Amino acid sequence: MTSHSAEQQAIIQKTADYVREKLTNAASCHDWWHIQRVWHNARLIGQNEHADMFVAELAAILHDLADSKFHNGDETLGPRLAAEFLYSLAVPETTVEHVRRIIANISFRSSLSAITFHSKELEIVQDADRLDAIGAIGIARAFAFGGLKQRPLYDPETPPKLHNSTEEYKNAKSATINHFYEKLLLLKDKMNTRTGKRIAQYRHLMMEDFLDQFHAEWDGLC
Ligand code: ADP
Ligand code: NI
Repeated sequence: MTSHSAEQQAIIQKTADYVREKLTNAASCHDWWHIQRVWHNARLIGQNEHADMFVAELAAILHDLADSKFHNGDETLGPRLAAEFLYSLAVPETTVEHVRRIIANISFRSSLSAITFHSKELEIVQDADRLDAIGAIGIARAFAFGGLKQRPLYDPETPPKLHNSTEEYKNAKSATINHFYEKLLLLKDKMNTRTGKRIAQYRHLMMEDFLDQFHAEWDGLC
């Protein structure tokens, strides 16, 4: 179990309040509740790891302030906003710079490019974020995203395509069911931590059951 100092606890709470306010009108696949789930996942995973949970919790709370997908591909805006906010609370530079690096390196997109940074705290937050993309919540978020982008639920004429680069992945306009084969079903093998792997295994089976049933219903078999 980690225990934060009263001062750290106050910073975490102020950060959560700031992010909740900033994400008031965010789309449901990337809203405050996503942040809160990732934060809780990170705490759960962190119980079994030796890590600086002050860094990990701050990164979890700040990781989706400005997704580049929604900001003309600007990959630096999110990490920069997070760092500026933490500096405004007089958080020490080593902590802020670590949080900034975690946010810059957390996404599935950036994991398809050359990896330039690594830390236990990144592993925890990345697993926490990935867990929220799979299982029951993952299914709900995928269709929320597809709805937002006005994509079809499923397109039986366009097979899923595995993406080998960040660029290719970003430009894909797949039907939502394809996204399961292009990303969501791959996540269980990309988990970093023991706890992350264990939970991902279970959530993965749930998605497989869902897909089997989806295809059976699509074909009018049951
Ligand atoms: P990352 O930042 O790790 O690349 P995203 O921001 O792409 O992850 O994903 C945010 C949420 O939206 C996830 O739940 C993800 O599964 C979903 N999502 C992203 N792209 C698609 C897509 N093409 N179709 C359906 N859901 C998607
Ligand atoms: Ni996220």
